[in-house]
Amino acid sequence: MVSLVFDTNSSSCRRLVQGLPFPAPDFRNCNNSQGCCPPPYNKTFENFYVFDMTLPMRSRRPAHLLDDAYIAKYQKAYQLLRALPDSDGRSWKNQANLHCAYCNAAFYFPMAKSRLEIHYGWFFFPWHRFFLYFHERILAQLVGDDTFAIPFWNWDDQSANPPLANVLPDVFANAMYKNKSSSLYDANRNACAQPPNIIDLQNLFQCENQTPSLKASLHESNNRIMYTQMVIGAPISRLFFGEPYKLGGWAGPGGGTVEASPHVPVHTWTGNPKAKIATSDMGNSQFSAFDPIFHAHHSNIDRLWEVWKALAKGNHQDITDPDYLNTEFLFYDENGNLVKVKISQALNINTLRYKYEDVANFWVHDGSDATSISCFPTSTLEINKMIINTPAFNTNNPITFANSTFTFCVSRPIERRLHGEEVLVIGGLHIGNATSLFLNAFLYFPTANTNTSISCRQFLGKLGNSGVNFGPDLPDSKKEWRLAITPKLQSLGMDQFSHIVVTLVQLGVPQNIQFKTTQIVYFE
Ligand code: C2O
Repeated sequence: MVSLVFDTNSSSCRRLVQGLPFPAPDFRNCNNSQGCCPPPYNKTFENFYVFDMTLPMRSRRPAHLLDDAYIAKYQKAYQLLRALPDSDGRSWKNQANLHCAYCNAAFYFPMAKSRLEIHYGWFFFPWHRFFLYFHERILAQLVGDDTFAIPFWNWDDQSANPPLANVLPDVFANAMYKNKSSSLYDANRNACAQPPNIIDLQNLFQCENQTPSLKASLHESNNRIMYTQMVIGAPISRLFFGEPYKLGGWAGPGGGTVEASPHVPVHTWTGNPKAKIATSDMGNSQFSAFDPIFHAHHSNIDRLWEVWKALAKGNHQDITDPDYLNTEFLFYDENGNLVKVKISQALNINTLRYKYEDVANFWVHDGSDATSISCFPTSTLEINKMIINTPAFNTNNPITFANSTFTFCVSRPIERRLHGEEVLVIGGLHIGNATSLFLNAFLYFPTANTNTSISCRQFLGKLGNSGVNFGPDLPDSKKEWRLAITPKLQSLGMDQFSHIVVTLVQLGVPQNIQFKTTQIVYFE
């Protein structure tokens, strides 16, 4: 169903069928309820920013492999940034506030259903790419070095040989700061996110006392999350980038696989859980860009966009919808001028004059289904029995998920494989106040339970830290969890059955949540 919004200002009664690109937000009509509106200016924006193709190519390097000379420059850059006055759009505070404003209901468009939100939908990757681009150029300008590039925090690399990539990089670690005067220090980080603890991309908060066996299982689950979100769960653009979001539509219609996880878990793992939410920095989008590790985290997220495109040339394509490509944003350039860009300018990093130093993406192999084990019988006889014995999801009775597991059966349309990508859509999510919700989905594995490892080949996907994957105003009827199923069915060798059997497992203390619908839909 397409919802219609009418533009009453237009004499032609033009229809805005959820569809028009967003024009650049007017910063002068900023809602300052979160205190992050940009400073006043007087200017109009006729032209788009022209990216300087004559700049030297900048190489973004892994943060765990930086040399002393680079570290000195990196610290100097943030020191100079922190010293800029707040009348300057480039200042430390204005940079961090820009992120806050684009994601905390600051910008309103007359015909939009809710205020602009660049998270939880298809703006996530390009907006952050621009944000990093200009931030990096500002730092380069301050240190007088056009080759300066932001490093990337390579947390997706689980190799156990030092220097480790999956710990807080040395430049950010407390051990580095004798007197906490480094410009890269942030007081609001998680004490248990300090080395030697390694990252937990499932975000189950097991970061205290990491025993060797817990570390080994974290290596495994981190690799599985990476593979699941980058490969098996994101065969097409819509699942990787997130749902379309156009002028006239709801803000935060649903983020892509990588935005939901690992992106969010890295934030919450790094931010201070003990601080009030307002001072948790990385753990809270309003304040996260106040921690310089934010930019190194997003540099890796931005790198994963390039990695995803290279993983399967053909299927892994950028979005081509003109309403996406023509959406505009404003940023401060390295001279402090407010400039206008559109998403089509973000797609080619070569024209932005930066690249990522090559690193091995070990999870492509180490987290793959091919190296995982099957945890349940897969014979035709067993599966047919399972299908007969599993109740279908009754849409008249939305389920209240108060137990830790729930198994249901969904029929696959007969015309399958003729068009599009087969996606299981679990809709009408009511999450309510469940703040730390962790759901794992498994295929053809009805005995899966809270102790079941995601290393099992039957692991289909994860809904984690829920409530964070949708805009705050999105009605429950529009909240959907989308899971690609064809690649998983193929890897299980079970693409021939008429029904799928899905088991959802809720980890931790079961929260009261509801689903209304389950169906299989074909995505183009
Ligand atoms: Cu704008 Cu990682 O968030």
